[in-house]
Amino acid sequence: MKQDMIVVLDLGSEENPQIAREIRSLGVYSEIHPHDITLAELKALPNVKGIILNGGPNRVVDGAAIDVAQEIYDCDIPALLVDHRGDAPWPTGEQERRTALENFVFTICDAKPNWNMDNFIADQVELIRQQVGDKKVLLALSGGVDSSVVAALLIKAIGKQLTCVHVNHGLLRKGEPEQVVKVFRDEMDANLVYVDGVDRFLDKLAGVAEPEKKRKIIGAEFIRVFEEEARKLDGIKFLGQGTIYPDIIESGTKTVKAVKSHHNVGGLPEDLDFELVEPLKMLFKDEVRACGKALGLPDSMVYRQPFPGPGLGVRCLGAITRDRLEAVRESDAILREEFAKNGLEGKVWQYFTAIPDLKSVGVRDNRRTEEWCVIIRAVNTVDAMTATVENVPFDLLQHITARITSEVKGVNRVLFDLTTKPTGTIEWE
Ligand code: XMP
Repeated sequence: MKQDMIVVLDLGSEENPQIAREIRSLGVYSEIHPHDITLAELKALPNVKGIILNGGPNRVVDGAAIDVAQEIYDCDIPALLVDHRGDAPWPTGEQERRTALENFVFTICDAKPNWNMDNFIADQVELIRQQVGDKKVLLALSGGVDSSVVAALLIKAIGKQLTCVHVNHGLLRKGEPEQVVKVFRDEMDANLVYVDGVDRFLDKLAGVAEPEKKRKIIGAEFIRVFEEEARKLDGIKFLGQGTIYPDIIESGTKTVKAVKSHHNVGGLPEDLDFELVEPLKMLFKDEVRACGKALGLPDSMVYRQPFPGPGLGVRCLGAITRDRLEAVRESDAILREEFAKNGLEGKVWQYFTAIPDLKSVGVRDNRRTEEWCVIIRAVNTVDAMTATVENVPFDLLQHITARITSEVKGVNRVLFDLTTKPTGTIEWE
């Protein structure tokens, strides 16, 4: 293993992820582990140079106080105890805190600043090979950042022992399924099963207008398709997953209650009992992107904006019809193209079009029309809990409107959504 590591033991402080990030920002790898880890388990982790014990407000869990085992206090690995048994107050100033961490990490633990993506990738390749041996791994590859980076990492580690399944549910953005095939099958020479599920998903969704019902149908059908593909393949023992560190935090730990459940494996039948391979589970989102870039994935994949799992299905409002689905896909492609051309691509957090189930009267070539309208939304946010509206230049909006109304079939009107979150959500459904 190439990297030294500082282990943060989770005694319930909500700032543990922040501490791990601060240590990584010093160039030293850091992982968080549960408080009930045994000394043997701790020693089995690679290159542990030091431990941080950070006791916080959740140290009493389910009515009982929690602590790490005495053997860990007694072992020879240097430990920093903060806010813990009253030993050492944690410096509150940013600079003092950094100095305290630097002193612990470099002087007391003698850790080397050798955390970088090349070393991370080299270590993960070795760990994946150890875990998988000569067995086969299956991965659902949506083309989103996390699944794409896991795919690239697994391809590097085990090549053709990996089978990627890409399900095109017909609700992806323009060009996305093609890009997945091009990058992974053509350029990386991966085993890629491309499933054209367009009719199947759209048939299931026909006439369903209620947003949560649409989400459920899309999720359930996805699992069914993936399961069918898994059964066609022989001897799969592992399931690759793009779990990243924020997913784990949101799912709750032994000391912090779940914010939301994490349903990546979402209901695969029990007889398909795969062991998970989750090489990104300790990475924050920006680190996942850096990893993808180091693995040679294109920027358009690594830096792409967030996109909901149910895809355009929740942007084609109400009951999905094929004509409106095409209109939302085409108008979204024009919006993305114009934002990229005008320097807004990396600046705006999320931008897309939505199409309501609403026609309005218009005029085209001196004839009365009755056609759909398209809504443009462009928002900025830090955590998606609140959002502000991007101040898109008016002449650009007019240009995009002119393009959409002339190039997208069946659309005669374009609206710009000025609503912040709250009161609106980011998506319309
Ligand atoms: P809202 O609309 O709740 O969206 O303000 C916040 C963020 O979450 C995304 N979003 C989803 N992502 N499945 C997802 O994976 C979903 O069903 C879903 N609904 C919303 C949305 O795009 C925004 O980034």
